[in-house]
Amino acid sequence: MTELERHDIQGIVISSYIHLSCAAYVLLRVTDAPKARRWLAEISGEITTAQGKQEQTSTNIAFTHPGLAKLGLDEHALKTFSRPFIEGMATEYRARILGDRGESAPPFWGWGNSNCDRAQEHNPNPPVDILLLLFARDEATLAAEIERRRASFVASGGVEEILLLEAGRQPDTKEHFGFNDGIGQPVIAGSGKKERQQQRTHHATELPAGEFLMGYTNDYDVIAEGPFVEPGRDPGNLLPVIPPNTQSLYDPGGNHDLGRNGTYLVFRQLAQHVADFWQFLDAATRGPDNASDSEACVRLGAKFVGRWPSGASLVQYPERDPHAADGQLTNENNFGYTQTDASGFACPIGSHVRRANPRDSIGPDAETARRSANRHRIMRRGRSYGTRQPDHFVDDGVERGLHFICLNSDIERQFEFVQLTWINNPAFGGLYNEVDPVIGNLDRTDGMMTVQCEPLRTRVHNLRRFITVRGGAYFFLPGINALRYLAALTT
Ligand code: HEM
Repeated sequence: MTELERHDIQGIVISSYIHLSCAAYVLLRVTDAPKARRWLAEISGEITTAQGKQEQTSTNIAFTHPGLAKLGLDEHALKTFSRPFIEGMATEYRARILGDRGESAPPFWGWGNSNCDRAQEHNPNPPVDILLLLFARDEATLAAEIERRRASFVASGGVEEILLLEAGRQPDTKEHFGFNDGIGQPVIAGSGKKERQQQRTHHATELPAGEFLMGYTNDYDVIAEGPFVEPGRDPGNLLPVIPPNTQSLYDPGGNHDLGRNGTYLVFRQLAQHVADFWQFLDAATRGPDNASDSEACVRLGAKFVGRWPSGASLVQYPERDPHAADGQLTNENNFGYTQTDASGFACPIGSHVRRANPRDSIGPDAETARRSANRHRIMRRGRSYGTRQPDHFVDDGVERGLHFICLNSDIERQFEFVQLTWINNPAFGGLYNEVDPVIGNLDRTDGMMTVQCEPLRTRVHNLRRFITVRGGAYFFLPGINALRYLAALTT
């Protein structure tokens, strides 16, 4: 196994910083390239790496394709990035892949839609060039950190703040619909996290580093290719030279590696309509006398998600939430679907978690299915934003949701595949005419969800979309050397 170059890898790749409970994402625009690069050079030594743990704050940084162009990266290098990143999330084609329709369509986004033609008619917003990710142990430390960083980029005169997206401390690890989140995660081989994850979840799928980091071998046993620059463009030799490599698909050998220790970061701001979600479940589970049935309501919610509110898996606890009474949370993750629940009687085939990671269930046999599903894993790093809704059933008019963030070295094969082929696929796993009931794009269906059970399946109809996409973008999260290279550009 290749050792990870931790000093060159940004910390967020390896850690979700759970000890830093508050976060802020600053969206920036480059207004003066030389000054912006000077600012980058200044902060490049302060970016949190995967080496050691910062107790108070952590800072990471990522760039959009237009952002890299504005910083002066040359035309040739810009073309060596992957297609989804070059195009951006908001183009017509990618919006179709992602199912961003209706109110979730890019023209209506509050940020990130600058490369979408139709935005002009609705809600045009400025191009996002840089994403600064700030994490802190508490609100006061975060506020101070935001101000400190703000003072530095304002003083630089090279970048301008477009928007500040905050994700404050939440009372627990549940997302806003009320379900424990952040459980099903892969482990990067060589990160030393396997044991810790095993203790936490009794399970850890370890995947080759190349699934989440460019420059390392991926699950296909080839090097995860990243962007590169021609030797003449790196006279100071800030970047490592790519050796001629038989394991490489494109063989950029001899060029200088801009991608090494970097990855792609997918960011989607997903507003959650909590009262809509619970009112829908309540209406769908009322008894013949039209009285609410709270147990049936939570059970149907769990069938939508694929786990109970505590996080317990429906496969392991098909009847009831083992922590319904004590309110405890669980991270148990050691299960598959094929052996115990092939038909989806416990965890519906179309539930959110089963679509987002079907584990061993879609393939000729369990092992082949698991291996193929593992080629489409993502590393989730998102955080909830907005305050918890005091009463799930009562809309308080407050905006809240998930700043969904995930990391992957191949956006098309990982994040976009999950979204297109699993989440939004009406024919997923032998189903038809239905999509993920929690986050799916209902436009192509009649809003149905099948809950498999014996002797007869039940079907829930007239689903509404419980989330709305408010903004998003694809970013490149570089290694530290690559960041220094960008800061040293002279054009
Ligand atoms: C507001 C939107 C979302 C909500 C409320 C939500 C909620 C949840 C919950 C409660 C879980 C179960 C706990 C866990 O395993 O961590 C989960 C798992 C998961 N979600 Fe989401 N999610 C959202 C958006 C997304 C999106 C956009 C994707 C990717 C396209 C995604 C991918 C996943 C994956 C991969 C898992 C783990 C599945 C497993 O390994 O078993 N989620 N989500």
